[in-house]
Amino acid sequence: MKTDEVVVREVMLRDGLQNIPEFIPTEAKIELFRLIVASGLRSLEVTSFVSPKAIPQFRDAAQVVQATSKMTPKGVEVSALIPNLKGAQLAVESGMRKVGLVMSVSESHNINNVRRTTAESIDELKKVLELREKYPDLVVKAGMATVFGCPFEGKIKPEVTLGFIRQFYQLGIRDMSIADTVGFGNPREVKEMSRLCVTEFPDVSFSIHLHNTRGLGLANSLAAYEAGIRVHDGAVGGLGGCPFAPGAKGNTSTEDLVFMFEEMGVKTGVNMEALLAASRYFQKVKKDVHYSSSIIEVGVPIFQGPITKDGSEQKWNV
Ligand code: COA
Ligand code: ZN
Repeated sequence: MKTDEVVVREVMLRDGLQNIPEFIPTEAKIELFRLIVASGLRSLEVTSFVSPKAIPQFRDAAQVVQATSKMTPKGVEVSALIPNLKGAQLAVESGMRKVGLVMSVSESHNINNVRRTTAESIDELKKVLELREKYPDLVVKAGMATVFGCPFEGKIKPEVTLGFIRQFYQLGIRDMSIADTVGFGNPREVKEMSRLCVTEFPDVSFSIHLHNTRGLGLANSLAAYEAGIRVHDGAVGGLGGCPFAPGAKGNTSTEDLVFMFEEMGVKTGVNMEALLAASRYFQKVKKDVHYSSSIIEVGVPIFQGPITKDGSEQKWNV
């Protein structure tokens, strides 16, 4: 995507919820979807077709897809995360037509997360791609986790990720995501990795998925933007985190991401008031989780009017 605009992809309904052990009622998920879409966000990951034994939160994945697909306006893209072929099958049967297979570029995290080596995940991906014979409109994305570091193996060299990207590219995949699953990346690394991606694969749509574990989420997003990445994941309220990655904390908050880009004059198409209504709604549904968003905390700037020496413009004081 060569435009200056940014697509902020909302992952709250997947990444945000996967780290909440208590089941959130399906109706609340659907209402949150409605409010998020009403804010103008055009891309959402709506659920995860994973084993309910691994993450019970998503036992209603099919119901969420069925209900939200009826409410999805034209121009809004929805997708679901899958770890394997079974997830893809359940997703397409529920009507979902875009799935993102998650694979960690670190062997250790892939084994801990989806109980497969990376080679086994790639075999699984090939089987998922075969589903397109029956479902020609199925879009398959490759999501790469732990690109900027793994809680077990530490830093991962960019060449490792590029090797996987080349394999995905040869399989015909043109939609890929690079993720800082735990929040180990810094802006310099993110910029360099993003630059390598967009330079070597100009016809791939890359998205960046960042966790704000140590406060670098926005800086990393900006670095990726400057390198040419135009799809940026965020989660309402800064929620999120992988239960199978020790130390993982929330995603960059969507509110903060939208604020940063809009303040820079980069259009997101999002109405901040409506977005805050979505996060306020969820804060009522689930109070006892840690929200992390500067905009939720302090709001957007409000100017009180200029001050003159004779007090004539002291509007705030009348
Ligand atoms: N959706 C629903 N059920 C699934 C499934 C899926 N995608 N994949 C497997 N299952 C079911 C199987 O049918 C089986 O059920 P049964 O015990 O009733 O027969 C059970 O789960 C175990 O299947 P198996 O293939 O042996 O999987 P596993 O135990 O090796 O687990 C994963 C592998 C990938 C399914 C599991 O680790 C998982 O779902 N992980 C999710 C990871 C995740 O979401 N991380 C956060 C996002 S990055
Ligand atoms: Zn994540």
